[in-house]
Amino acid sequence: VVGKEDVDKIVKVFKENSTINFADYSEKSFIRRLEKILIDENCTIDDIVSKIETDNIYLNLIKNTITVNTTELFRDSEMWLNLKIPFKNYIKHKSELQIWHAGVSTGEELYSMKMFLQMIGYSENLTLIGTDLNDKVIELAKAGVYKNNIIADYIQNFDLVNNTFNYLDAIKLTDFANFNKATNKIEIKPSFKKDTDFFVLDLLNAEYNFQENFDIIMCRNVLIYFNLELQNKILNKFHNLLKPKGLLILGTHESIMPPIANKFKKTDGFYEKK
Ligand SMILES: C[S@@+](CC[C@H](N)C(=O)[O-])C[C@H]1O[C@@H](n2cnc3c(N)ncnc32)[C@H](O)[C@@H]1O
Repeated sequence: VVGKEDVDKIVKVFKENSTINFADYSEKSFIRRLEKILIDENCTIDDIVSKIETDNIYLNLIKNTITVNTTELFRDSEMWLNLKIPFKNYIKHKSELQIWHAGVSTGEELYSMKMFLQMIGYSENLTLIGTDLNDKVIELAKAGVYKNNIIADYIQNFDLVNNTFNYLDAIKLTDFANFNKATNKIEIKPSFKKDTDFFVLDLLNAEYNFQENFDIIMCRNVLIYFNLELQNKILNKFHNLLKPKGLLILGTHESIMPPIANKFKKTDGFYEKK
């Protein structure tokens, strides 16, 4: 069984050998991930610590295992449906949009956003940035190739959202992605990857260094892994990086507490910068 002292050992070895600070991660999920590593590798915490100290590739591997990367296309489709009207209102007078997905994992959330913008009729300039701490998921996001066992769920989620629109010309998932029969995978079309950019960024960094501020920041199911102090630090940075009246969208079970909450107007499912 993994205990607090084991967590401390891992946090310490990461601090000493990298810029990664797991100190303020929620202990529950951290412990669950460490237990999985111990079982998978049939080793002890001390084995992990000494290997991290000497092997940078292994350090990266453990870092990637500790982060939880669950995601899907149009995850929480209800949330996307709630965004229809506010997004339509927001884009009305916009000729360009800058959007950031913080903790984008394997990229489905960002591609969902791009599809969603087409559904609501936005066809002007667009920049979509996806970032994550985990370099492996960033590579997968760039590739945009998704496994067969999830395709049915993805189609279902896509249809759930897409079928609520009345189009003149129907939009289909195959407009954005190819179904590769040989590999049984779904592949985001290269042309659809235009305007997207994925790179590694640790949200615990002091500075984020973006060139421009954002119309929309989406950070779903990421803050839950941090303690409240850290959440507030990150939320403050999001606030600074939003354009006036820009929108912040968190996960379905995440919310902002005062005093930072006072800097936003909370509306159904999202936060608007005051
Ligand atoms: C559960 S996934 C959420 C993916 C997507 N936003 C969604 O809701 O479907 C959480 C992501 O946060 C990332 N993450 C964890 N700690 C991070 C940090 N310090 N900086 C940036 N990303 C981090 C993980 O690597 C993981 O990909």
